[in-house]
Amino acid sequence: MGLLDGKVAIVTGAGRGIGREHALALAREGAKVVVNDLGGEVNGSGQSTMVADQVVEEIKKMGGEAAPSYDSVSTREGAKNIVKTALDNFGRLDILINNAGILRDKTLLKMTEEMWDVVIEVHLKGTFLCTQEAAAVMKEQGQGGRIINTTSFSGLIGNFGQSNYGAAKAGIYGFTRVASMELIRYGITVNAIAPVAITRMTKDLPMFQGASEEELGPQHIAPVVVYLASDLSKDVNGKILGIQGRHVFAYRMSVTEGVKKKEGVWTPQEIHENIKKILGE
Ligand code: NAI
Repeated sequence: MGLLDGKVAIVTGAGRGIGREHALALAREGAKVVVNDLGGEVNGSGQSTMVADQVVEEIKKMGGEAAPSYDSVSTREGAKNIVKTALDNFGRLDILINNAGILRDKTLLKMTEEMWDVVIEVHLKGTFLCTQEAAAVMKEQGQGGRIINTTSFSGLIGNFGQSNYGAAKAGIYGFTRVASMELIRYGITVNAIAPVAITRMTKDLPMFQGASEEELGPQHIAPVVVYLASDLSKDVNGKILGIQGRHVFAYRMSVTEGVKKKEGVWTPQEIHENIKKILGE
């Protein structure tokens, strides 16, 4: 008996890194999996069907069921096709993991519009399109569902040289909060993860130098996603779970106690005098 027996899942960007581990872990728990991956480079260029096919083969070798999808998450047609792959092959859809992603890092003053647009399109628009297409099917089925998005430290806290990626990932945070409120009426929960793991996307970053696969590999991320995809998490909605190796925690937007004026309006000078209290420092 698996935690996800009888369920059908889509994992976007499932051909490599974190998404591949999600797909394998979901299949191990009995889910039938659509392995979506465009098979491109880290910067979003190029395309290959081999990347998704390999993971489908791995799942089949384990005795699981899987189907490949090579569409891009960032177009309406692509998102429709990804969901259609689940329906055509497995007849239903219960779980969507929005994981596909690319990087085009540059400091703000050097960033081109193209670098901005393509990153927002894959991460933020892709998450919107796939969620909308999947949630429509889940609503129609009337048996609830699970949607798990992928945000990042970069969007939630900030990271140098990633204004496009950080904006997209912060957008996914806001999108997750709102979608979780709107879709819960259909029994669909929407949560997000903020992973940190060694993949081709991150292996050259200074923080990963000297770190081992065992400590910080993407295999540590998948169990949290399986939990969020399962019935175990039915009371968890609109949450952001951080995972870094063996450390699992939650990100929360916090509001300081601030200061209140008894009457009238604040002056800029008074704001200056109270700034430490306002900032909660
Ligand atoms: P990765 O580069 O190993 O895997 C991403 C996969 O997405 C690739 O196989 C790529 O072909 C696919 N992909 C890219 N654009 C696509 C599109 N338009 N349609 C379908 N598939 C597409 O990267 P990694 O590290 O596994 O990242 C997975 C997710 O986790 C991304 O959303 C990333 O932003 C996020 N993330 C990763 C962190 C890390 O430490 N590795 C940190 C924070 C977030």
